Amino acid sequence: MVEIVYEMLSDREKSLIECCLDRIGNGANRIYIAPFDRVGRSGARLFRVFFCPDKDCYPHIVKIDRKDRIQREYENFQKIQNYLLPETTGAPREPIYESREAEEALGILYFQIVSDSNFDSARTLQLSDIIFDVSNDPDIEKERLDCLRNIFDRLYGICLSRTADTSNNEPTSVLLKDEFEWHISAIKRLNPRKKYGQIVGIEHIDEAMSTCAGANFANPVRLFEEISSGKGIWEEPVIRNLKHVHGDLHCNNIVLNSEKKPVLIDFAWAQLNADILKDFVLLENSIRVVMFPAYVNLDRHKEIDEFLLEEDGPLKARNLLTGDEPLFLHYVRLLEIVEIIRKYARRYGGKGYDWPQYLQSQFITMYRQLAYDTPNSIVGFRTLGMIGNRVKHEHQRS
Ligand SMILES: Nc1ncnc2c1ncn2[C@@H]1O[C@H](COP(=O)(O)OP(=O)(O)O)[C@@H](O)[C@H]1O
Ligand SMILES: [Mg+2]
Repeated sequence: MVEIVYEMLSDREKSLIECCLDRIGNGANRIYIAPFDRVGRSGARLFRVFFCPDKDCYPHIVKIDRKDRIQREYENFQKIQNYLLPETTGAPREPIYESREAEEALGILYFQIVSDSNFDSARTLQLSDIIFDVSNDPDIEKERLDCLRNIFDRLYGICLSRTADTSNNEPTSVLLKDEFEWHISAIKRLNPRKKYGQIVGIEHIDEAMSTCAGANFANPVRLFEEISSGKGIWEEPVIRNLKHVHGDLHCNNIVLNSEKKPVLIDFAWAQLNADILKDFVLLENSIRVVMFPAYVNLDRHKEIDEFLLEEDGPLKARNLLTGDEPLFLHYVRLLEIVEIIRKYARRYGGKGYDWPQYLQSQFITMYRQLAYDTPNSIVGFRTLGMIGNRVKHEHQRS
């Protein structure tokens, strides 16, 4: 008989999980730990944990990471907690730290798992699983699209309705470099210049204009450098409506409960009084440049991207599509959903909202998303370039 020695957790991690048992205090005296097949970008370790006398009790997820990161996520969650309905959040409980003082200490955050999960399988569902899960059967596809529409309507109409309440809000002047500080510092840290150079040709990184997959536009690397240093056309503040935001609303941070209703998780970047558009542009970007299939027809995709430079572009682009073209069902979904997101952005955008604001916020957040690995960087950077080009022209015109 072979002995299997299995060490999934370090002693430090084990003792943190034990501390959660004391807190939960439901008479449980046993902890079952199972792997969790989901991971996020932060690099945190996640496990499914059952605190109980048996394996059937309700599972939790524990997230173990550096103390400062766990602390930030919990504190940011607390800031906006009162503006969210409890049933629409995967709310973390108060975290536990190995030590309050030590810099290198670990922390643990734990919350109840959303959607069905038992000891043997973690059937958690999130938006990224279904967003482009198309069916060729028209009846099934109609049902799935209706389900997605409901999810997005609920997301903005219910989950985020209180954070985005427009009643007593005045437009405020902000410098983009201040408002998007963490996006800008993340871009600087990830340094996508080289990646961009590989796409347009290393010798062209610093030219004023770029050419990428058949499109010409003002070089987004240069535009970003201007925005991030507040130089050139970006010396003047821009107008924004400041409200409470989730701050990192992408398809992997929206999980679905057993009724397929959206539940928000991962509050590491939640903010009070921030550009409300962050919760719209990031999700649109996530669908367009992260989730959309990588195998697109470059010319067709460019046409769609051109339409999407206009606020009402989704509707117009829809009329262009023909039922027999590749990715037809994917484009239909993309356009429907982008239309819903923009409808709510305008509704919550408040006084003084205009379309160029959306494009500016979209440019900066998309740049950060592309600085990570995305399925098709060439198409993604071309989309970014087209948006940046429009941003620059709109700004010069105003
Ligand atoms: N309460 C939860 N219920 C179900 N799945 C969850 C829950 N919390 C996290 N997850 C899953 O774990 C993944 C990573 O968790 P997250 O808190 O987003 O970590 P990160 O900060 O690394 O992105 C999520 O994308 C999701 O798939
Ligand atoms: Mg996450």
